[in-house]
Amino acid sequence: PPEEEGPCGDWTYHEWAEAFSTNDLARTLPPGHIAVCRVQTGGRGRFNRKWIGEEGGLWASFTVPLSAPEDTAAGVHWGHLPLVAGLALFNMLRGMGLDSVRLRWPNDLLAGKSKLAGILVERPAENMAVIGIGINVFNDVSSIAGEIKDPPARLADLVRDCPSLHAVMASLGSHLNQVLSVFSHGGVPALQEGLSRAWAGERPVSILTDDETVRGIFTGIDDQGNPVLSLPAGTVRTIPAHLINRLLE
Ligand code: BTN
Repeated sequence: PPEEEGPCGDWTYHEWAEAFSTNDLARTLPPGHIAVCRVQTGGRGRFNRKWIGEEGGLWASFTVPLSAPEDTAAGVHWGHLPLVAGLALFNMLRGMGLDSVRLRWPNDLLAGKSKLAGILVERPAENMAVIGIGINVFNDVSSIAGEIKDPPARLADLVRDCPSLHAVMASLGSHLNQVLSVFSHGGVPALQEGLSRAWAGERPVSILTDDETVRGIFTGIDDQGNPVLSLPAGTVRTIPAHLINRLLE
C-alpha cells in the first residue's frame, strides 16, 4: 500500500517509498490519479531502455481518461499524448526560468545537450492512458552518467531555490491539465505553436526508419505531429511518425 495519499491540485496522489515502475502502479488507479515513488527499481523508458530512479528524483505517473471515440476530425489522436506531455513539461520548466530547456522530438527534455527528464506514455486500457514522467531533481546524476546515452542534468543545479519534489509534481499536474484541455479541443494543430517554440529552431537531424536513414534539417512538425525535414536537394519531406525508429541530432 502507498505510504502517503492526498490531493495534489486537481489530481490525487499515492506515494510509495519504493516501486518497480510507477507506470505499473498507475494501471491500477482510476483516471485523475498520480502514482509516485521515492525510489524506482525497474523504471523503463522508450525502446525498453532502463531508467535509473534513485532517491531525490521525481518518478511519477499520471492517469488520464481517454474518451472514445477519438475526435479525429479535430486532429485529436491519442497517439499524440507523448507530444502533449512533452509540451507540458517544457512549459513547466520554462516557467521556472530555465531558458536552456528544449524538446528533442518527440519528447526528450534536454537542458543544453543534457537529459533532464523523460516521458513514457502507455495505454493499459481502452479508456485510460498512463503518462509516466521522470525528472532528475535532487538525485545524484553523476552515478548514472556512464549508463545512459545523453549526459544527465538535474533541476537542482539549474534553478535557484529548486522547489520540493511535491511542488514540482503539483506544478506538472496543472501544466498537464492545461495542455490536455487545449489538445482535447483542438488536437495537434492547437499545440503546433507551443511545440515549435519547444523544439527551438531548425537543426540537422538523421531519422532512422526500418528502410532508410533520412538526413536533413528539422524544421518542425505538421498538423499530425510528424517531423518535417528540409532536404539538401531543396525539397521538403514529412516522415510519418509511426515509421520512425530513432531521431538523432
Ligand atoms: C525515456 O526517456 O525514454 C522515458 C523515461 C521515462 C521514465 C519515467 S519515471 C516514471 C515512469 N515510470 C517508468 O517506469 N518510466 C517513467
